[in-house]
Amino acid sequence: MVTCGFFSIISGSRRSSSANRAKGHHKEVSVMEGTRVFSYRELRRATGNFSPDNKIGVGGFGSVYKGILQDGTLAAIKVLSAESKQGIDEFMAEITTIADIEHENLVKLYGCCAEGSHRILVYGYLENNSISKTLLDVDDCTIGFSWDTRREICIGVAKGLAFLHEEVRPHIVHRDIKASNILLDCNLKPKISDFGLAKLFPSNMTHISTRVAGTVGYLAPEYAVRGQLTTKADIYSFGILILEIVSGRCNTSKKLASEERFLLEWAWVLHEKGELSRLIDKTMGKDCDTEEACRYLKIGLICTQGMAKLRPSMSAVVRMLKGEVDVEGENISRPGLISEFMSLRGDNGDRLKGRNVSKDSSCTMSGSGNQEDSLFSVDDATTSVATMTFNSVYDDR
Ligand SMILES: Nc1ncnc2c1ncn2[C@@H]1O[C@H](COP(=O)(O)OP(=O)(O)OP(=O)(O)O)[C@@H](O)[C@H]1O
Ligand SMILES: [Mg+2]
Repeated sequence: MVTCGFFSIISGSRRSSSANRAKGHHKEVSVMEGTRVFSYRELRRATGNFSPDNKIGVGGFGSVYKGILQDGTLAAIKVLSAESKQGIDEFMAEITTIADIEHENLVKLYGCCAEGSHRILVYGYLENNSISKTLLDVDDCTIGFSWDTRREICIGVAKGLAFLHEEVRPHIVHRDIKASNILLDCNLKPKISDFGLAKLFPSNMTHISTRVAGTVGYLAPEYAVRGQLTTKADIYSFGILILEIVSGRCNTSKKLASEERFLLEWAWVLHEKGELSRLIDKTMGKDCDTEEACRYLKIGLICTQGMAKLRPSMSAVVRMLKGEVDVEGENISRPGLISEFMSLRGDNGDRLKGRNVSKDSSCTMSGSGNQEDSLFSVDDATTSVATMTFNSVYDDR
């Protein structure tokens, strides 16, 4: 039985929400400050007591279960494993800021559970997993992605990101745009997950840096090195994502020859040779619109330029992808290559591949323009592995 207790929010103050919570303790589903709050009992029932059979994935901060809510809705139930030191009120405050955000290319947050030490998020369930699993994982690829589908995925993700950057108030910088955070529904329509949850974990948790959190391979240099976070860091990550979608390979692949190992570096080499088409995923065969796919690769390079100010806004990227803006004559400058100055090549780089990184270092920008030199030089660049899952912040531009 689902009981919807609509608490009255008289003042919106923390005191009143605590009182309401106490009153509604026995309810299965309630609403607090506009957010659906599920009881732990309801979520335990929905997932068959968090049965391993219903586990659909594990991320940096916990496990995700498939569950059926009492009204029959399928949900992805994310159990945060780290014991958040946040109190229920702070947790709820974070959740309510994103609960209202709705867009066809964003995963819907249905609600949460904050009972005792449990902190659980309940999302809309996406049938076709993430791009990382369905498109990039060579062992797990079951869906043949046509060029049309890839184009629509790129455009959909770009629209979702443009919405977060430019329409949501306050603006949201995602901070962890990557293939595993792009989920696909039953029609292969893309939805961005894990946005807007930056402050969900306390900054004193050792594996979280308040300065930098993201995933190696997708991190914009100015953000990784100097902690400078603007929407342009997301645009850089999105550029890497386009390259992955068109090429059908991960941004780092140690199985490939060393010159091809780092996707962005390889794309730049091919661009300079005028051979970008070599990067297009061959599994598409004749189905592919080679000219358009090359245009998309160029857009990926435009988004990953070393100078953040040269990267376009997300709405401009949407227009480029739709063919409303010509990118043919665009003068593309050299990409920002994080691997060049973070010693991520070789063993260390392999170990970090696919992991999230948190880093505190200072740097100076050298900008030599020399092809052989780094765009940046780093003082005291120490890198530590982190396992941050939720790392979005509000961009108070
Ligand atoms: N709403 C959802 N619908 C269907 N599957 C989901 C949903 N959310 C997450 N998943 C699955 O659970 C997996 C784990 O997700 P989670 O966000 O916890 O970690 P991640 O994004 O893979 O990695 P990281 O912790 O580094 O961000 C995803 O890769 C995906 O397969
Ligand atoms: Mg995720």
